[in-house]
This record gives sequence, C-alpha cells and structure tokens, in this order.
Amino acid sequence: MARLRLGVLISGRGSNLQALIEACQGLAFPAEVACVISNVRGVQGIERARAAGLPSVVVPHTGYPDRESFEADLTRVLYAHGADLVCNAGFMRILTASFFEEWPDRVINIHPSLLPAFPGLRTHERVLAAGCRFTGCTVHFSRPEVDAGPIIIQAAVPVRPDDTPDTLAERVLTEEHRIYPLAVRWLAEGRVHLEGGRVLVSGTEIPGGALVNPAG
Ligand code: GRF
Repeated sequence: MARLRLGVLISGRGSNLQALIEACQGLAFPAEVACVISNVRGVQGIERARAAGLPSVVVPHTGYPDRESFEADLTRVLYAHGADLVCNAGFMRILTASFFEEWPDRVINIHPSLLPAFPGLRTHERVLAAGCRFTGCTVHFSRPEVDAGPIIIQAAVPVRPDDTPDTLAERVLTEEHRIYPLAVRWLAEGRVHLEGGRVLVSGTEIPGGALVNPAG
C-alpha cells in the first residue's frame, strides 16, 4: 500500500521532525516524509532534513505582503512534493482559514500541554505558575484558532515540586516524540475518524488515544 506522504512544517530545532523521520525509516511504517518546509533560514530542523537526505525548502514568511500569499506558496511546495498530510512540528506561524480550506482535516499539530488547557506560548512556565500536578502533550487536527482542534492522542506526565520550565519541557518532549509518530501511524492506517468534532480511534492497542508516562 502507498505510504502517506507527510509535509512537515518547522521553524526551529526540529526534534519532533527528527522523531517523525526516524519513525518513517522503519520499513513497516505506513508514512514517509515527502518534504520539510521551514519559514526560518538556517534552523537545525533543516540540517536534520538534509542529514536524512530529505527534500527541504525554506519559505521565509517575511517575503510576502499577507499571510494568504505566504500560505499559497506553502501549498505549492507541498503539492509539488506530493504531500497528503501537513504536520506542524514547532511551526511558529498562524495559519489562516484559506489554508485549512485547501487542506481540510489534513493539517495536524503537536502542542506541549494537555489541550484545551494552556494553548499558546510559554506553556511550561504557565503550568508551573498554576500549580498543576499533571501536564503533557497533545497531537490534534489543526483549526484556524491557535492550538485548537479535535484531539487525536495525548500523553500525560507528572509535574514534580522541583521542576523548572526546562526540566518540565524535557520530560514532556520525550512524550511528544512518542505520540507524534503514533498519531501519524494511526492516520496512515485509517484508524482516525472525526465524528461530531471529536476523534474516534479504532483498532489500536491504546483505546481512545491516551498515554500515561509510567516512569514519571
Ligand atoms: C515542541 O515542544 C512542540 O510541541 C511545540 O514546539 C516545540 C518544537 O520543538 N509546538 P521541536 O522544534 O520539535 O524540537
């Protein structure tokens, strides 16, 4: 069967991109990275793509009069590489409704919190300030609203009393690298069904798409 072709959008470090690249290197994995697009030049994620021998393109958002024309170029590059699914992986641009019309239910994102709690930036800092005992990460279908959309999978991690934003980020990131490839696998296997704004995941070993980090 043809593998699902991923267009991965990044803006920086690209550790989630790396997790997707490594998953796709598995012979039995049902997806492959078709292209990597960064809106920022010279970022580590582009180096990761090159090191893996994958096509990478820089589309600097600064060169466009408005978001829509930037996004039209993203779409052109994605189609040129035969992408089926857009995976935002640390992509720091807001996408408008017109992009989602072009890619209906074909854009997913990873966010370092248990959405709908703590959308936006400085997540770990805000989790600590709120005194949360648990946090985690979420892979979800993207919508024009920032960090919103039907949840595909989440992983929870405990917050420790001595955590700093950095230690918490590291613990959450380990789980991000686990759940993003899993979400992609489920999508590629046709197990992810959108029903009434919620996601049902069929036939997996993890009913309902919830993971808890047993190690803490
Ligand atoms: C991750 O924490 C991701 O959840 C968030 O931005 C960060 C990107 O990290 N959206 P990386 O570029 O994948 O290393």
